[in-house]
Amino acid sequence: MRGTASRAFRTLGVLSEGIRIGTLYGFSSGEMLDYVYENEARGRGPLGRGIDRMYLNSIGWRGIRERRANLIRTLTAIVVTRRSLGLSTRIVDIAAGPGRYLIDLAESLGGHDVAIECRDLDADAVAQGRTLAAARGVANVTFLQHDALNGPPPSADIVVVSGLYEILTDEAAIRASIAAIGKAMPTGGLLVVTGQPHHPQLQTIATLLTDRDGSPWRMHLRSTATLERWCRQAGFTDIHTHADTLGIFTVSVARRAANVEAAQTFVRLVPGDPHVAHPCPGWAALTPAQHVLDR
Ligand SMILES: C[S@@+](CC[C@H](N)C(=O)[O-])C[C@H]1O[C@@H](n2cnc3c(N)ncnc32)[C@H](O)[C@@H]1O
Repeated sequence: MRGTASRAFRTLGVLSEGIRIGTLYGFSSGEMLDYVYENEARGRGPLGRGIDRMYLNSIGWRGIRERRANLIRTLTAIVVTRRSLGLSTRIVDIAAGPGRYLIDLAESLGGHDVAIECRDLDADAVAQGRTLAAARGVANVTFLQHDALNGPPPSADIVVVSGLYEILTDEAAIRASIAAIGKAMPTGGLLVVTGQPHHPQLQTIATLLTDRDGSPWRMHLRSTATLERWCRQAGFTDIHTHADTLGIFTVSVARRAANVEAAQTFVRLVPGDPHVAHPCPGWAALTPAQHVLDR
């Protein structure tokens, strides 16, 4: 049965533009996500477009489009609030792909007080993003080919990490990345980071879809508690997470604490993971006021 689905996907899939892009760049690539955001079925003939529509309507891609909407909503609210305080905003997305969602955001926000830098390891994604921004006349979105896991982390008021940690399996590298972002960020800076605690089609995806190197795309789910704990351990506080209506993707906002050491001590006293035995018998005596360490 699985072999039949796989054969049908490979033979009929070539008619669909989305499946062609996924096969070429990897189904977890920024190029793939940009196509999903566009959400316009394309392909060879009516059959190809029909297959493409089914592909674009799959639950995971519907979740990705909701994640995009939630990201844009979140970033808009932050920029508008900063604007009302007379503050300009520099946003860096460390793995933006071609960054279509950030070009959309820049267009809708307008103004000269927002600068967005889209970074990505993939030279094709960076080139596509530059072309798209130029075609739309959006000058305040710039692009940089950069490895998010090596080299200097960005300095920005808002750092976005969308869809990167979900495709990484090396948890130590993810934690080091969050810590480096926190270290480079000014006090009060915000991390906007996505998570993926659930996906209903893990097996189907591992069977049919491939990463850029042609290996099966095996998703690694991570609980919201885990992602939030890593943020706290990196000195972030006031972490708020909301999920899409499908329960697949989350968007978390975390504020870099003024007193990172105090925030980290707090994490040691009150670990976020309920399965971890509590190291400090007196922790329950902490009052809510004591929980807010850096205000
Ligand atoms: C799932 S896509 C997400 C793209 C975009 N952030 C979004 O949400 O639509 C993951 C992106 O991470 C990029 N990527 C993977 N490893 C990276 C690394 N070490 N440094 C920078 N970008 C990386 C890929 O090239 C790809 O564009």
